[in-house]
Amino acid sequence: MRIFHVSEDPTIEIFHPRPATAFAELKKDVVFAVSETLLHNYLLPRDCPRVTFYAGHTTSEDDKVKFLSDEFEYVLAIEEKWLEKAISTTLYLYEFDAASFEILDKVAGYFISYESQTPIGKTILSQPIQAIKDRGNIDLKILDNLQDLAQNITDSSLNFSIIRMRNAQPTRLDSKKKISVPLKYIPKPQQTSIFIQGGKEYCIVNLNGEIYAIDNICPHQGASLGLGEIKGEEILCPLHQWRFNVKTGECNVEKYCVERYEVEIME
Ligand code: FES
Repeated sequence: MRIFHVSEDPTIEIFHPRPATAFAELKKDVVFAVSETLLHNYLLPRDCPRVTFYAGHTTSEDDKVKFLSDEFEYVLAIEEKWLEKAISTTLYLYEFDAASFEILDKVAGYFISYESQTPIGKTILSQPIQAIKDRGNIDLKILDNLQDLAQNITDSSLNFSIIRMRNAQPTRLDSKKKISVPLKYIPKPQQTSIFIQGGKEYCIVNLNGEIYAIDNICPHQGASLGLGEIKGEEILCPLHQWRFNVKTGECNVEKYCVERYEVEIME
């Protein structure tokens, strides 16, 4: 098993543990690495949003047919506006001794160490997009907007990683995502309310007179976002303080974004 840390910085001699804010379960700082199998997920500029997926043991036949092809084992999707940067960025693959790490997330290929780590090798990758294609089993998709795919993959039975979505283009509103909310459920400015319709809970937010709605149930451990605090354009989950943008549904923990809805107010 080979494991790597991908960076745009060519000068790293030693990796020191850092806070892992995206993993609430990690109480200590860590050094991150990714398995060679899923290395393609990181052969992109650090800030480039991406949706990646593949079939796991529990993936349904329907989802395999719908999202995968016979030709490729993995799909890696990025937005067109990042393609030029992805082509022109030079990456550095720092390899570690896998015996010094423990596995964190098998589906995502994440390994961690609680100790500082000195790489055992460094490879320069001056053409990362070509390197992705050369791996031979990656279906590299270039899309105008990642949001719909991210939502569909989150709802599927596929194994997936959704990374840096806070940098993706915002969700497009469409009529399917409109909800009608009686006036009495509309909160006062800088307040929230919880509206339930058809068994589904919505968190309604009044930001300076503009009304927004997102899913009320936090995708982390099910807290009620409508009971959270508003900070700027975000709601802080009351349980572990993950942040959800009420305009886009994006979370500071990428793969946990929530759906957002256009609100029609019923008098
Ligand atoms: S952040 Fe943990 S339940 Fe919301």
